[in-house]
Amino acid sequence: MPPLYTLDNVAQIYAGRTVLSIPHLAIPAGQSLAIVGPSGAGKSTLLRLLAFLEEPTEGQIAWRGETTISAETRRSVTMVFQRPALLRRTVRDNILYGLKIRGETAGQHLETLSEQLGIAPLLDTAAHKLSGGEQQRVALARALITRPAVLLLDEPTAHLDPQNVRLIEAMINDSHATANTTIVWVTHNLFQAQRVAAQTALLLDGRLIEIAPTDAFFARPQQPETAAFLKGTLIY
Ligand SMILES: Nc1ncnc2c1ncn2[C@@H]1O[C@H](COP(=O)(O)OP(=O)(O)OP(=O)(O)O)[C@@H](O)[C@H]1O
Ligand SMILES: [Mg+2]
Repeated sequence: MPPLYTLDNVAQIYAGRTVLSIPHLAIPAGQSLAIVGPSGAGKSTLLRLLAFLEEPTEGQIAWRGETTISAETRRSVTMVFQRPALLRRTVRDNILYGLKIRGETAGQHLETLSEQLGIAPLLDTAAHKLSGGEQQRVALARALITRPAVLLLDEPTAHLDPQNVRLIEAMINDSHATANTTIVWVTHNLFQAQRVAAQTALLLDGRLIEIAPTDAFFARPQQPETAAFLKGTLIY
């Protein structure tokens, strides 16, 4: 069985500048991968490619060995953006939007998810009136309600207090454990990577410096750049 994702010689070039260059990366189904790296390293760019929102300028991304990506595959991959854009409608409409365009209904799942995320009292509120942290939780509910095969998370807890960070980590871990959801989690928080991910990767200047089981990544980094990044002594 080929991995869920296989990237070969992938490069993303904007206006002549190579912002991402990955000779090879395989992500098996059911993986939970954290991506760390400084601002501008190409983390969000990598997520957009994995979400099939952009085609790489060079190279190939295969899904289960296939480079032709079906509409069904695209629908099974969901990204939670660093700055989620919500519709100027109620929280309920926002959460149900993805299902609606798929012609599906939520059933009990809407109540369960909004209870778990602590946004049940907000379902009839206009989404644009919510705080940053509330919006992040709505964006997560909107993603989880489709029961995606792959969940791509771009700093989904950046605006949250510690209690909500824990709550979201637990929900995502739960989705990973019960539905075998493949998770790619971009985070600036190294402690978070250690809590949530089986594997961790460092991106630096568009290059994949190291990818390893999370324990080994933090305890025994193999690359000097990783060691420097973890110690906070990397100059970039
Ligand atoms: N659509 C675009 N057009 C031109 N340049 C872009 C585009 N998207 C990203 N870039 C550039 O590519 C580089 C990588 O951006 P990216 O958003 O992937 O970084 P990041 O690692 O997610 O950073 P951060 O941690 O700040 O979110 C940056 O220098 C950015 O300015
Ligand atoms: Mg980013």
